[in-house]
Amino acid sequence: MINIPKGTKDVLPGESHKWQYAEGKLRKVAALYNAREIRTPTFEHTELFVRSIGDETDVVSKEMYTFEDKGGRSITLRPEGTAPVARSYVENALDSLSLPLKTYYLISAFRYERPQAGRLREFHQFGVEIYGATSPYLDLDCISFAYDALRALGLDNVRLKLNSIGCSDCRKKYVEALRTYFADHLEDMCGTCKERYGRNALRLLDCKNPECKKIAEGAPVILDYLCDDCKAHHEKLCGLLDASGIPYEVDAGIVRGLDYYTRTVFEFVTDELGAQGTVLGGGRYDDLVQSIGGKPTGCVGFAMGMERALMLMEKHGVDFGRTGIDVFVISQSPELEGACMAIVSDLRKEGISADTEMTGRSMKAQFKYADKQNAAYAVVIGGNELETQRVKIKRLSDGKEEECGMNEIAARIKEN
Ligand code: HAM
Repeated sequence: MINIPKGTKDVLPGESHKWQYAEGKLRKVAALYNAREIRTPTFEHTELFVRSIGDETDVVSKEMYTFEDKGGRSITLRPEGTAPVARSYVENALDSLSLPLKTYYLISAFRYERPQAGRLREFHQFGVEIYGATSPYLDLDCISFAYDALRALGLDNVRLKLNSIGCSDCRKKYVEALRTYFADHLEDMCGTCKERYGRNALRLLDCKNPECKKIAEGAPVILDYLCDDCKAHHEKLCGLLDASGIPYEVDAGIVRGLDYYTRTVFEFVTDELGAQGTVLGGGRYDDLVQSIGGKPTGCVGFAMGMERALMLMEKHGVDFGRTGIDVFVISQSPELEGACMAIVSDLRKEGISADTEMTGRSMKAQFKYADKQNAAYAVVIGGNELETQRVKIKRLSDGKEEECGMNEIAARIKEN
């Protein structure tokens, strides 16, 4: 037997309706926010991710699925959606459309991480990217989009944590302060942190090594190093959030693990999923478009981890809706299966989901099968029914029967 690769999952027929339910809800929220879907390829040139996410991040330095294709190009399976959408925005000159432009996507993404509950190597994201404005109102719109998306899934007790990591100017001063702080602790830190110290000291803040984590807790916080403009942006956003009634908590520890962020960063977190408690993360990234060849463009976005959202929905007992068919046509004997298939075919043409027996099983076995298929009704077809063109429709939930003409089955089911 060939097994599924580590860190990946099948979505089986018995659970795909849960994904469809969640995706349907998210698409509806996207429409409410005037966002249009964007679809980009599953793989991109490696350079795109190195340049945008940053080569000192865990994602780029340790977790990417990178390979050389047959033409000798370095290709990477997307570890996230922001960089590909930014690439598409620049390449297709989407700034020529009226701005702000709001996009969303439902994608699979790939990171070579140590798999555990809520952490996979192939996972799925619902993401949103908004282009073309630096106004804090856009940050508010984006956070409110994320908030409503979670609520639409029935997840109303996921907490919002907010921070600002400033612009490249304030970051310079902050990184100097971090270097001074970490210089005294460097010998107790892991090899990766020692290497990153000189190249990207900010990344020392998201090392997962327990010893490094403890040291990072005492590090200076970026909020104390914000320039006047970044500070004003952050304060304005906090005021807007207060007025909108979206609860949040400013948490200076939120720095995000990707290099492209500027100013606003945020996460929606829960304690109910163990170590993988971040259900959704995002922020502003005003320098990204320019860094990959476009014009300076204010951007803000987020991505929700679908597996984590679904795990939480299960925990909260969200009702994913009924799956199953409207009617199962039971054949009284194997030679009537052809006639039953003709009836089923007519029902389907009228928009009734229907199925019938094709393998010659007993009526008892067919009723059992109809139950397993979650059929709402069963109709038994025998010689008598074919002759009189009258049938009994049986509601399987309570056994209630109703008689009607053969050509009225669809209308009767639609009435109920
Ligand atoms: P991220 O924080 O790397 O941000 O991922 C967003 C969400 O994807 C996480 O909060 C988590 O729920 C889920 N996720 C990430 N890695 C895994 C994994 N290995 N297994 C399962 N779920 C995972 C981004 O990806 C940014 N592109 C978000 C963004 C959009 N920022 C601006 N626009």
